Formats: sequence, structure tokens, C-alpha cells
Amino acid sequence: MADRDPGELSAADPASSRQASARGILRRSLSHIAAGTTDMAPGPMPLHASVYTDEARFAAERERLFLGGPIVAGLSGDCPESGDMFVFDAAGPSIIVMRGKDGMVRAFRNMCTHRGAKLIEEAEPWSGRGARITCPFHAWTFDNTGHLIAQPGKRAFADCAIGARDLIEVPCAEHLGLIFVRASGSEPIDAATHLGDFAPVLEQLELHRAEPVKKGVLEAGSNWKFALDTYGEGYHFKTLHASTIGQTHHNDMAVYDAFAPHHRISFPDRSLDAHAEADEADWPQTEYGGVHYVFPNTVIFFGALEPGSYFTQVFRLFPEGAGRTRCQFAVYAPFGITDESYRATVEAAYDGTATVVDEEDYRVASHAQTNLDHAPEDFSVVLGANEIALQNIHRSIAEAIGMPLPEARSA
Ligand code: FES
Ligand SMILES: [Fe+2]
Repeated sequence: MADRDPGELSAADPASSRQASARGILRRSLSHIAAGTTDMAPGPMPLHASVYTDEARFAAERERLFLGGPIVAGLSGDCPESGDMFVFDAAGPSIIVMRGKDGMVRAFRNMCTHRGAKLIEEAEPWSGRGARITCPFHAWTFDNTGHLIAQPGKRAFADCAIGARDLIEVPCAEHLGLIFVRASGSEPIDAATHLGDFAPVLEQLELHRAEPVKKGVLEAGSNWKFALDTYGEGYHFKTLHASTIGQTHHNDMAVYDAFAPHHRISFPDRSLDAHAEADEADWPQTEYGGVHYVFPNTVIFFGALEPGSYFTQVFRLFPEGAGRTRCQFAVYAPFGITDESYRATVEAAYDGTATVVDEEDYRVASHAQTNLDHAPEDFSVVLGANEIALQNIHRSIAEAIGMPLPEARSA
């Protein structure tokens, strides 16, 4: 694996930083195109099939990663103004994320403190706005900082201090345009520490400017990690995506950078071939960034619809059981929606991608899961040296849940 371009993280403003970054990726892509190579791990890695099927491992992942860890609940643009709110319920308990009148984003259990009714009955990706939330059961009312501000029939609660019945707050942090929530537990979120040296790379994307265009849910009948694996290698483009990405992108070719446990991976477009012989000064100026993986379950793809016209796709994968995945998928206009025709193009980027993911990637994942569920006891899948991102994802997850990867048959 080549080193990152040293200039890419030091540019003064995000746009030139993205361009420097894209230039570094282009340089490495062209060298792979010329040599027919890809960034690789030192060797293949066997992975015991139980990583995808074991209930105890799934329980540990849900507990340690999805309930106990910081998870991306959305982007700043999902609740840009005071009073904006959205539901985040994919990690476990239903949570309301809302921006208060002081501009701060907070997260609360979507649970009335009277008798536990659900305040907002809609599921993710619901979003809305309002200065207050009124419980549908007996109309207790809370403001957008979680304070209980009205109780009908208040005299019946004479000994019940109103302040003691505010909404139950859960840890939440807004950083670099990402909103992180810890669904269970009270430890504050240190997003900068969580992102580590990946932060400057994400900062280039200016995620705080992204405006949502379309959101939905994709389902896979597979373990969440099998679905996640499909975002980390381009080895399947030519076969599985023969009529889509396989046409436009090089197969089995990637530029990969680890910022453990996160990573960035870019897949060279065939249109780059035209520049293979060109002088670097004549290369096109792009801001293409590729796939940005935020541990443990979020994939942010920054790409171009056409030169100069970008979109950001965010896939957040959640386990619904050892063998079921719910993916919250959203597409954003990275720097705001400039006009209706641009909005329509970004919307089309949602529809096209949702179809490919659903009918191709998740189809294969679902069938593979059935096989793995019934695989011989000693069966291991093998992650090739060319599937380096997957190797590192599985190692990082195993480490984070404190369960070593099971002994696997040698590659
Ligand atoms: S449960 Fe919400 S007001 Fe009664
Ligand atoms: Fe794919």
C-alpha cells in the first residue's frame, strides 16, 4: 500500500484539501491502472463462518458497539435549526435527536416520563420540527431541550417535582457534521478521540453543509457484517455489478488507507484511463473522495454524478438479529440543494444505488447467510489480500467487543 499524499491534509480550506486528496488518490489510481495492481494486505485471511452466525458474538456486538458505543445517528443537516428533530431507533431503543433553542443538539429516550408512552410514534427515518413535543397519551409536554413544561391535571402530581420528570437524556455529540449518540449508558461521547486521525479526512467532506434529499431503509437477510463487507472491496464489480459499477469502474482495484478502526477506500473509475499517459498538470481537477468508513457501521460515500456535481450517500447498517440487517440509507446534497434539477439528480442517485444494493449486494449477502448458517462446522470464508479493508474491519470489531476471532482453518 502506498503512503497517503502528504499534502492532502494540510491544505488551508476544505475544497482545496478535497482536491489535493483527490489528486493523491488519482496518482495512486493511475499507477494501479498502469500496473494492473491494487492495494493489498500481506496475505489472505481465513475467517471462521461463525463470525457471521454466532448468537453470542451478535449479542456482544449489539451490547458493546450498537448500544454502548458511539453510533452515527445522522448528519447535522438532519436537524439544522432550533426545533428540528429526528428519530434514531435502529440501534435499539427509540431516541429523539433534537436541536434546542440554544443551538445544541441533544438526544433523549423517545419515552414519556409519565408512564412511558412513545412521544413520537413514527420510526426512523422520520424527521420533523416543533418547539415542543406533546405526549399522545395524556398530553405531558416537553420543550426542545427535554424539559417538562406542562402537565394537564397538575394537581394530581402535587408531590412530583416537575423538573425531576424531564426527558431522559442520552449521550450525544455533534462533530464535523456528524451526530453521534450512545443509545445506552451515560458516558459522554468524545467524538474527536473516537475518530482519531480519521478526523482531518472527514473534515474535508464538510459534512456540516450536507442537506438531506432522500432517505429510506434497505433490508438484507444477512449478518450486518456480511452486508458491510460489500462496501469494502471492488473485487466483485465485474461479476456482481456487470451492468452497473462493473461497466464504469475497474474491477479488483482500490486505493486504501487505514485510520484504524476507520478507513477510506476509493475505486478507480474507467474514465481515468484517458489520463494514464497525460502529464500530471493536465489531469482533471476533481474532488472525488470515495468510501469513508466510520467504525463500526457507517459508510459515507462522496462521489460525483458528473464532473463538478457531487452527492454524499450515507449507509448506516444495524443488526436486527444475527442474520438480519437494516440499513438506514440517506442521500445528501453535500453543499446544499442549489436548484430543483440538482435535487432530482441527487434523488436519482438514491434510487439507482438502492436498486443495485438491494438487488445485487444484499441479494448475494442474503443467500450467503443461508449457506453460512448451514455450513460445515469447520468452514471458514477467506478474505483475499485484495480484501484488505474487510480484514481490518473484522479484526477491529473483534477487538472492540473483546472476543477474539475464532480459530479458522488456514487460508
Ligand atoms: S404517558 Fe405521556 S402523558 Fe401519560
Ligand atoms: Fe457491491
